[in-house]
Amino acid sequence: MLARSIMVATRLGIFEALRERPCASAEVARACQLDERATEKLLNALTGSGYLEVSNDIFSLAGKARQWLLKGTKNSFRDKVLFQFLEWDWWGQCEDYIRSGKPITIHENMSSADWALYQRGMRSCKDAAAHELAKRLSVPTNPRTLLDIGGSHGTYSAALCREHPRLTSTILELPPAIEHAAPILAAHGLGERLQHRPGDALTDELGENAYDIVFIASLVHHFSAEQNQALITRAGRALRPGGTLAILEALRSEASHTTQFGGLLDLYFSMTSQSGTWSAADMAEWQRRAGLKIMRTIRLRNAPNVAVISARKPA
Ligand SMILES: C[S@@+](CC[C@H](N)C(=O)[O-])C[C@H]1O[C@@H](n2cnc3c(N)ncnc32)[C@H](O)[C@@H]1O
Repeated sequence: MLARSIMVATRLGIFEALRERPCASAEVARACQLDERATEKLLNALTGSGYLEVSNDIFSLAGKARQWLLKGTKNSFRDKVLFQFLEWDWWGQCEDYIRSGKPITIHENMSSADWALYQRGMRSCKDAAAHELAKRLSVPTNPRTLLDIGGSHGTYSAALCREHPRLTSTILELPPAIEHAAPILAAHGLGERLQHRPGDALTDELGENAYDIVFIASLVHHFSAEQNQALITRAGRALRPGGTLAILEALRSEASHTTQFGGLLDLYFSMTSQSGTWSAADMAEWQRRAGLKIMRTIRLRNAPNVAVISARKPA
């Protein structure tokens, strides 16, 4: 009830209607072209849930709605909430998945509108983690070239480029993603330093000794162990000696003490992409087999249960 109420209010523009000043419910209904009585019910539900406040029948935004749900604010989660309409439909297929074991394979089956929601949703709320990554990731001195595989909106690339002034990033992405991620990439304001390269991480040749950093965020949960080993081996070949290969991922927890977040994400990724989350040891093993030297794992403070497993190519 709560999730859908927040999603609906976000999509209908209720929070935006209250952005500048408190309003009566009839005024909100008029501004958003909605039914008056039904809008009042929704506003009451949101007030009871702590997303709005009310005084003398005048509604205003509560702190958490202002912080997370408005368009274009720092740390806005709005695009992720809109993406959840798509995720909601995917979860509706969970029962079929459990019966048949057949995943939805989202990347093969999304419409153009779905791709737009997906790319914008992935971008939201990434700034803090990207900034932290850029500060904490150990890379060669004065790096120049970055390959960001499955990098979509480019927020991690942009943070790394800001941290390292001579760095430029090539963001390898599927063509339907690029169609919608291109304007998001341009909005980082780094011009030619961030460029999309259309391609497929599973099959593309990545080159040899070409990059100071290869970065892969939230991608390996879509692929099987064999596909990931092949990808990491090609990525290792593409690194210059001394270069860093970093994998940023939500971690699979041990079965004996699975967390709610870890367990649900593992189910979600297996349902949507046939794979699932991986442990830090799995990812380090792919890097070791690719001939890389494992470095210290970084646990991101701004993204709980997410770690960066990094390794260096021997000089
Ligand atoms: C979960 S999103 C992560 C996006 C971004 N790296 C992040 O961490 O926010 C996965 C991205 O990988 C891309 N992707 C999936 N399969 C791919 C493939 N075979 N080759 C290249 N990119 C792929 C998707 O289009 C999507 O943008």
